[in-house]
Amino acid sequence: MPAPPHVPRDRLVDLTWATGSKPNDLRDPYEPCGWLAEPGIPRILFNPPMPNSGGLAGGSKGAWVVTHYADIERVYTDNEYFSNKGAAEFQALIGETFRSIPLAVDPPDHAKYRQFLFPHFSAVRINQMEPQMRALAVEMIESFAAKGEVDVAWDFGRVYPVRVFMSLMGFPPPMFQQFLDWEWNILHASDRAQTAASLRAVLDFLRGFIARKETQPDDQLVSKIVHGRIEGRPLTDEEKIGIVWFLWLGGLDTVAATISQMFRRMAVEPEIQHQLRAQPELINSAVEEFLRTQPILSSSRSAKRDFEWHGVTIKAGDAVQCLNSSGNFDPARFPDPRTFDPAREANRHFTFVAGIHLCLGATLARRELRIVLGEWFKRISEFTVKPGADTTVFPGLLSIRNLPLVWCSM
Ligand code: HEM
Repeated sequence: MPAPPHVPRDRLVDLTWATGSKPNDLRDPYEPCGWLAEPGIPRILFNPPMPNSGGLAGGSKGAWVVTHYADIERVYTDNEYFSNKGAAEFQALIGETFRSIPLAVDPPDHAKYRQFLFPHFSAVRINQMEPQMRALAVEMIESFAAKGEVDVAWDFGRVYPVRVFMSLMGFPPPMFQQFLDWEWNILHASDRAQTAASLRAVLDFLRGFIARKETQPDDQLVSKIVHGRIEGRPLTDEEKIGIVWFLWLGGLDTVAATISQMFRRMAVEPEIQHQLRAQPELINSAVEEFLRTQPILSSSRSAKRDFEWHGVTIKAGDAVQCLNSSGNFDPARFPDPRTFDPAREANRHFTFVAGIHLCLGATLARRELRIVLGEWFKRISEFTVKPGADTTVFPGLLSIRNLPLVWCSM
């Protein structure tokens, strides 16, 4: 396996499979990563460059990989040693030089963008949005409740969060399918020409949309970004597209993948349904447990300097990837980590990472998931996977495209 000369050979492991690019049909699809946090496994491994890296960090250079809770926490929170510069900059593929804001911005600049965006994602703002979000969930669930079945991934999980997001941003509803197609090509297509074409199309659209909001302001988020001020000055064009682009990227697929995996887990493990139906007061902590047990992303950082860690030398510029699919199940942090415990306490997982880049949409995402579960259990009896349906799932963002469910009784 090719790797830079400073990487000891005994740390080389092909972990490409561990970042969600290899599907399985397990009840707990993240289970294959379990051994990575076991005693005896080196605390830091190196995933060599792979022809098809499946989204693993490091690209053509490969990446260090940390798997234990404490080490992952350090990478996410130690801004002296780790940087997020260049993160999620798919736009570089077509020669664009703007940054993905706030994700690819390091301190101290990062704080000013967080401060600027935070009011639009705060609990106060999400409380204001809640009646509309709830009404949409109810309308959608009632549209299929009497039919006795639904493709929960395609007809519900894929649609509900994107409709909430589009309304928050002020994007035109008819763009729905086009947005999802572009996003799919950017995140998941293996054909670079297709990815590049979609990047060009979405950036043209977003720049045109921003220009329209300059002259026709409204109350939605894109308009507020366009007309906002940071430290008393208007935003530059690069900042406007950097923020709108990254929100577009972060807001579309993530909740969709989480909802689909959440219903798959409940369908194959009906005890979870029984418990939540009997004790709806557990829904909030159950949402946290779904998030812990479904870490759809594993983020990476780059080292800012040379240093020694767990017996190896990390060099400035090396990528260090945090396997959330291992850290979220670290027995040193979570007792009985493979058991789904809807009442689990002290559930500080990494599904939204940790530190300054903690997901800005986390409050919105949690609220959507809570609303969905609450309204679903009020209207739909016990459900299971439709006989013959394929329950193969990618333990990551790709997740599951179709998941037909049927009600056990009507
Ligand atoms: C269950 C759903 C979601 C999951 C699992 C998720 C996951 C993540 C993760 C892992 C990061 C950190 C990436 C890194 O540090 O490398 C992140 C950051 C971010 N997410 Fe989410 N996300 C979700 C929903 C959303 C939504 C709905 C939005 C917006 C509408 C959003 C907006 C953002 C933004 C703006 C950041 C960057 C924060 C910063 O750099 O300060 N996310 N998200």
